[in-house]
Amino acid sequence: MPGDTTDTLGKGDVVSNESLANLLKEERRFAPPADLAAAANVTGAAYAQADADRLGFWAEQARRLTWDTEPTETLDWTNPPFAKWFADGKLNVAYNCVDRHVEAGNGDRVAIHFEGEPGDSRSITYAELKDEVSRAANALTELGVQAGDRVAVYLPMIPEAVVAMLACARVGAAHSVVFGGFSADAVASRIQDADAKLVITADGGYRRGKPSALKPAIDEAVAKCPQVEHVLVVRRTGQDTAFTEGRDVWWDEIVGRQSAEHAPQAFDAEHPLFILYTSGTTGKPKGILHTSGGYLTQASYTHHAVFDLKPESDVYWCTADIGWVTGHSYIVYGPLANGATQVMYEGTPDTPHQGRFWEVVQKYGVTVLYTAPTAIRTFMKWGDDIPAKFDLSSLRVLGSVGEPINPEAWVWYRKHIGGDRCPIVDTWWQTETGAMMISPLPGVTATKPGSAQRALPGIGATVVDDEGHEVPNGGGGYLVLTEPWPSMLRTIWGDDQRFVDTYWSRFEGKYFAGDGAKKDDDGDIWLLGRVDDVMLVSGHNISTTEVESALVSHPSVAEAAVVGAKDETTGQAIVAFVILRGSASETDTLVGELRNHVGATLGPIAKPKRIVPVQELPKTRSGKIMRRLLRDVAEDRAVGDVTTLADSSVMDLIQNKLPSASSED
Ligand code: WT7
Repeated sequence: MPGDTTDTLGKGDVVSNESLANLLKEERRFAPPADLAAAANVTGAAYAQADADRLGFWAEQARRLTWDTEPTETLDWTNPPFAKWFADGKLNVAYNCVDRHVEAGNGDRVAIHFEGEPGDSRSITYAELKDEVSRAANALTELGVQAGDRVAVYLPMIPEAVVAMLACARVGAAHSVVFGGFSADAVASRIQDADAKLVITADGGYRRGKPSALKPAIDEAVAKCPQVEHVLVVRRTGQDTAFTEGRDVWWDEIVGRQSAEHAPQAFDAEHPLFILYTSGTTGKPKGILHTSGGYLTQASYTHHAVFDLKPESDVYWCTADIGWVTGHSYIVYGPLANGATQVMYEGTPDTPHQGRFWEVVQKYGVTVLYTAPTAIRTFMKWGDDIPAKFDLSSLRVLGSVGEPINPEAWVWYRKHIGGDRCPIVDTWWQTETGAMMISPLPGVTATKPGSAQRALPGIGATVVDDEGHEVPNGGGGYLVLTEPWPSMLRTIWGDDQRFVDTYWSRFEGKYFAGDGAKKDDDGDIWLLGRVDDVMLVSGHNISTTEVESALVSHPSVAEAAVVGAKDETTGQAIVAFVILRGSASETDTLVGELRNHVGATLGPIAKPKRIVPVQELPKTRSGKIMRRLLRDVAEDRAVGDVTTLADSSVMDLIQNKLPSASSED
């Protein structure tokens, strides 16, 4: 539970305030480009409008959707924290994402430009997508799937993943997408928890230039899940695939022979749309439940407002995997509800070469790019010359999501990808929030490198201290959400009590996000990472994010991960693992210089006790650093469970480094 580990934050964070002052010293602000501001989808007036009548504001945004029965109620908050939004409205989510664009005369518009890793590509129009989703919906019905059922989806980044999700939504079955990199056990526990009766998978997908099988993991998982009646298998790689007669069905066979006519039925606004499991650092994964009308309203509005998305002219690309919430809200539901044209890319950024992303931007004329800080830092490490070889002049808005973006990466992104002209929107949100909550607006906000800045119109967010009191500008503490929002999680699947305990018990009447944050002198919000990641050194709270940010602001450091290790004298000691940039070589002098650099940036108390140069950092497949494993190394323990690591050999490399690790006492 986040509440167990958070009672150290918010007391003496002198160091953190100094560092913030430091970051702001140069007063770096970037005004929105005048042409973008002049034609922006959303102007500054939205804040005032939402402040004056928050529920009226959301009722108006709900009209972005096409309802079968228009809602007359906006929010029912009579039984907090269990919210109902637009409860008397009825709609079909898939109809909103597909059919209505065809009916509006935009059937020939490309919905998805698919780019496979091996270089195959195909473009799918909204009319084609409508036919395919309808056929898939008919196939689900033939396989016995009904409204209210659950369907597990375990697919690579191919258009069928989008079609499968929309087909579920169309027939009123909740999907539970499990990221294709997860193990058979992880899939099995998620299938069991959601009690899914159908699994949709593929023979395999392409990764790093090779076909990578998916079906064997499903065979192993389904062996433990007797409730699964059928496995629907998309042919992607054509590799040899074991097939269980009677249970397994080929997608092209069953979907291919269906009618392209399917009448979408309207469901209640609060009808379940999907369950998505969040990893969580401890305990069994939480099945986050999202419902239909409120979720789609906020996914659509934020995609329109934060990316300034113009469906007639923009080419949008979100590089996330469909298995994460970013893929749900900003590949599937937000963009498609808005009738956007988007790029979907199957593979890794360095296959077959390190310029692959920029080649894709150039090929499709991508105008809006949404990616993660971990990817941006990797591109920085690979070198400025790589993006420089491609024409990136089509880009006009850049987004970031997933973790705090350090100011250096922000500035690099703006300069080397955005040509010093594109605004950057640093969007804070969570699987639980369903859609963006804190972010600049590209036509309104003067942006600050490293800050997500302020709550979007209609959203209430602030920073509170240990007692739940709002901190003044300049203060630090915990990020909380102060008002219910349309795309909020409705519960943890099958565990209402855990929902209440995890999010709504730490601070009375407020949603506890589990992130540390602070407000600067203007009241803008800076995210400081998960509160579990705060270190307590000689009685001072120091955030791992800030020490990492200080380290990567040194020209020799490409990436850094910081942990607190038990220390007899200081309680915790700061241990930093760093990846050096191409040209920097690993010397004691450099390590000493880095320590002093952190000391000069944040104050002497924040100087790492040890700095260990490494080749790679342990990350989950969604790019989050697994500090738990680094803590094991720093405290000289056997390394714990590595099954959720993207590359499990990384820990061996790091441990082998330790004898030569530089340490200073
Ligand atoms: C956690 C949620 C949001 C979709 C992907 C991750 C961190 C996310 C930011 C940001 C600082 C961020 C937070 C949050 N996070 N975006 N812009 N700035 N931190 O979804 O796996 O549910 O993780 O990611 O710590 O709580 P998730």
